[in-house]
Amino acid sequence: MNKKVEVLPDQGALVARALELILSKINPAIEQRGRFTIALAGGSTPKPLYEAIASSNLPWDKIHVFWGDERYVPADHPDSNEGMARRAWLDQVDIPAANIHSMPTNEGEPAISAAKHEQQLQEFFHCSSGEFPALDVVLLGMGDDAHTASLFPHTEALQVSDRLVTVGNKDGNPRITFTYPFINAAHCVIFLVAGANKKPALAQVFAPEADSSTYPSRLIQPQGELWWLLDAAAGSELKKDEG
Ligand code: 6PG
Repeated sequence: MNKKVEVLPDQGALVARALELILSKINPAIEQRGRFTIALAGGSTPKPLYEAIASSNLPWDKIHVFWGDERYVPADHPDSNEGMARRAWLDQVDIPAANIHSMPTNEGEPAISAAKHEQQLQEFFHCSSGEFPALDVVLLGMGDDAHTASLFPHTEALQVSDRLVTVGNKDGNPRITFTYPFINAAHCVIFLVAGANKKPALAQVFAPEADSSTYPSRLIQPQGELWWLLDAAAGSELKKDEG
């Protein structure tokens, strides 16, 4: 794992740095693999980044978009991560509909949706059960309880290590989420974290010793690059040379 931590002065600088980093990954991926694959984070922090990506001139036909997690609601629901990304980015650009790989949330049972998406991912990446394909970039946020994607503290989803997708549980509400081994298979994982309310969780995530089922973002140890992009409000107490 190659871990880098950058503390940016404010949210504007955070978004600009994240955009720069993501754009730097697109052409090398297309040259090597013929396409660029990115999994998006939900929540509020990444929205201005999606708006910035939408105003970039990119080879949309070679860009494939996934989600690291989704709330168990339809895409037109205000809580939908897909809905947010479509309004901020995807509906603003000429990206083929087939390049948008939504997480299904319309099955009666969330476990059926998780299994369905697992199959969709295996077909897209031409891999079989037990294999963990590598996305080019996985974008993650972190909650003030140190959850990431929909991997919440002390939930069953943290125990799943033989699948790509599982069911998350936020206070009894189902979510669909990538598992941590699937996230860790990525070529590049980027955490985007802003706000002073995230400081206590960050301190635990960066602590030499702490329980990963209490602080699930500690489970994110990718085989490739790991970037922690923090704004000063969140990262001011973290030593810059963390790495
Ligand atoms: C979600 C996210 C979640 C998010 C964090 C941080 O669906 O809610 O994927 O993991 O990234 O909760 O959210 P904020 O950016 O809003 O603080």
